[in-house]
Amino acid sequence: MSNVKHYPKHAWYVACTPHEIEGKPLGRVICGESLVLFRVGNGEVAALEDFCPHRGAPLSLGTVEDGLVVCGYHGMKLNADGKCAAMVGQRVEKFRRGIRPYPAIERHGYVWVWPGEASLADPGLIPDLHWARSPDWAFGGGMFNIRCDYRLLIDNLMDLTHETYVHASSIGQPEIEEAAPDTVREGMSVTVSRTMENIPAPPFWQDALRGNNLAADVPVDRWQICRFTPPGSVMIDVGVAHAGQGGFDAPESCRASGIVVDLITPETDDSCWYFWGMARNFNVGDKALTEQIRASQHRIFTEDLEMLESQQRNLSANPGRSLMQLNIDQGGVHGRKILEELLARE
Ligand SMILES: [Fe+2]
Repeated sequence: MSNVKHYPKHAWYVACTPHEIEGKPLGRVICGESLVLFRVGNGEVAALEDFCPHRGAPLSLGTVEDGLVVCGYHGMKLNADGKCAAMVGQRVEKFRRGIRPYPAIERHGYVWVWPGEASLADPGLIPDLHWARSPDWAFGGGMFNIRCDYRLLIDNLMDLTHETYVHASSIGQPEIEEAAPDTVREGMSVTVSRTMENIPAPPFWQDALRGNNLAADVPVDRWQICRFTPPGSVMIDVGVAHAGQGGFDAPESCRASGIVVDLITPETDDSCWYFWGMARNFNVGDKALTEQIRASQHRIFTEDLEMLESQQRNLSANPGRSLMQLNIDQGGVHGRKILEELLARE
């Protein structure tokens, strides 16, 4: 691999979900840095270098006690600032050496970290996931570790033409590639929109219509509006409405729609963490429907994972090879330009 990094460091990334740090520390590599994440208490979370200043053991192999991470080797205890707070048999006030703390915040159902310069970490820059704090929305999701450059996953999500081929049995249909995408860059974000009118609903959307107690075997208008904001967020407005009722603007009584949530965090140059899910604002009390959607999304995104890892292996074996850029690739192309602009500022 080259030494050129392709991810901005002065940015908030999702590090983990809260349940991953319940009662224990979690080790996770983010943007090439080994972190230990743990819960301090009072809803506060902490991220430190995963490196005990005593003998260099990974702190993530230890435990959490009263909001301190306890090294699993000789019991050194560190606080959220990376300072030695206690150690049996030692006078810790003499210890000058600590470890690097990283800004960390729990918000919208995720733990976020800032791997770059701490003084720049403004919590106001964390994306506002409005559905996460609204009773009018239901959410189900999961996480994958994918052996590919995180930008390949952004490309994937910004060009849903691939659904026709990769997801033929669930959300794919030939009408997707027949509808030209419209790509617009505004400031530091890019949006790719596609609408398809008077088409049959594919199986996933037939299930969703039934889940909203609507007829599923009638023609629909379908939309996909993919919005990338750096460093790794792709939010996709998706849905179908009974044909001729206004599509995206159709009344709630004749549509099934939601937001595909994609939060992507680089692990290394050629691997990433993928926090995915779907937020929906219909039939929100139906937990079985939430689970049904989550399970089919898991199946669908596993198809992406297999393609992306195979693509990465092929690209790594052919490093100098240049690729084509078609009209359908413009969302990913603009996304990479935005990332490069951020990297140039760093
Ligand atoms: Fe996909």
